[in-house]
Amino acid sequence: MDITFAKRAAGGSESTLHRVFVAAAAGKGVISFAGGFPNKRFFPAREIGEAAARVLAESAHEALQYSTAGGYLPLREYISRRYHEKQGLSVDPDEILITNGSQQAIDLIARVMLDEGDFAAIESPGYLGAIDALSFYRPRFLTVPMTEAGPDPDALKEALTGRDVKIFYGVPNFQNPTGISYSANRRREVAEIIQSGNTLFIEDNPYGELRFIGEPLPSIKGVLGPQGVLLGSFSKIVAPGLRIGWICADRPIMKRLVAAKHAADLHTDIFIQHVLFRYVTACDIDEHIKEIREVYGNHRNAMIRMIEEYFPPEVGFTRPEGGLFLWMTLPEGVSSMDLFECALEAGVVVVPGAAFYPGGNGGGNAVRLNFSGVDEDEIDVGMRVLAGAVRKMTG
Ligand SMILES: Cc1ncc(COP(=O)(O)O)c(C=O)c1O
Repeated sequence: MDITFAKRAAGGSESTLHRVFVAAAAGKGVISFAGGFPNKRFFPAREIGEAAARVLAESAHEALQYSTAGGYLPLREYISRRYHEKQGLSVDPDEILITNGSQQAIDLIARVMLDEGDFAAIESPGYLGAIDALSFYRPRFLTVPMTEAGPDPDALKEALTGRDVKIFYGVPNFQNPTGISYSANRRREVAEIIQSGNTLFIEDNPYGELRFIGEPLPSIKGVLGPQGVLLGSFSKIVAPGLRIGWICADRPIMKRLVAAKHAADLHTDIFIQHVLFRYVTACDIDEHIKEIREVYGNHRNAMIRMIEEYFPPEVGFTRPEGGLFLWMTLPEGVSSMDLFECALEAGVVVVPGAAFYPGGNGGGNAVRLNFSGVDEDEIDVGMRVLAGAVRKMTG
């Protein structure tokens, strides 16, 4: 039988990635710096169990029934309050849509914004899940190189000038994959550039609360108002398996997003929304976040110390102020795919840089390293393996 698939199903960079995730999930003996995994030791399993039991005992009739596409109102009100408390942002609960992780948020935005052939700008390197999600809508990608302080403003200006660019997708806090954060100044510049045209800025912020160095910086949507859409997620601060994220968008966009959400899956798992709401209101989530922030900060420091100690001095790396990742640039002539293969044989998984460029066009000498999912002793073993492989390849 000869099945003809839709053109949109043909794209993606799945082959390399598929191998990375299969390798990462392979289990015993594998040290994975590959996924964006929070550390499983800190999942609040007992508290979530208690919250689930209470939901079933007290509100099963509501939590097990069909619900509305926008999401559980008390949870949206909680998110709205938290924005106000933490960032001074004023977001009406009706301007929040609960999604199946922020990954679905990216897909829904693409559904309502992109026709085939439309221009979509993204950071380069950029979040590979966004590249994958957007690719299904067959846009023409415009890539904006990242500098140490965020996207290059001249390149952003150039990308957005003289053509109708529908969206610019970025991760201003502890970017995936580089760990870079936009400086305060760069945030202002990006906002100004966006405001000079009609592009919608998609501000993805799953890591914002995981800052271990410096002071929090303001959200760009706060400046952009209706020209910005802000995404959030409980994946990195509570647990990714719950699959709860959200979109903040002003009403005209929200109306379309809610329709797209309804068409996609009616609504996000309402039982889990109830459970999460119980959990965040019954427990001290700030204390939990403080604990993981401290652990991830220590992991980050350990990884940087090991790069400096074990690797040849030509290796470059970012010094993230928060989040889960750093970006390592290999010495001249060392290919990240070769390093991936070589490390995999020794039981260590990294993501080759090419995964973070549309069509794999770039990142040939860089790898993304996750420091949250593995413990310090494993980081030490894994980094020694990687350093040995790099030294072997540089002769
Ligand atoms: C920048 C970014 N956006 C979105 C996601 C997806 O997260 P979620 O689990 O909320 O779908 C990730 C996951 O790693 C991410 O790094």
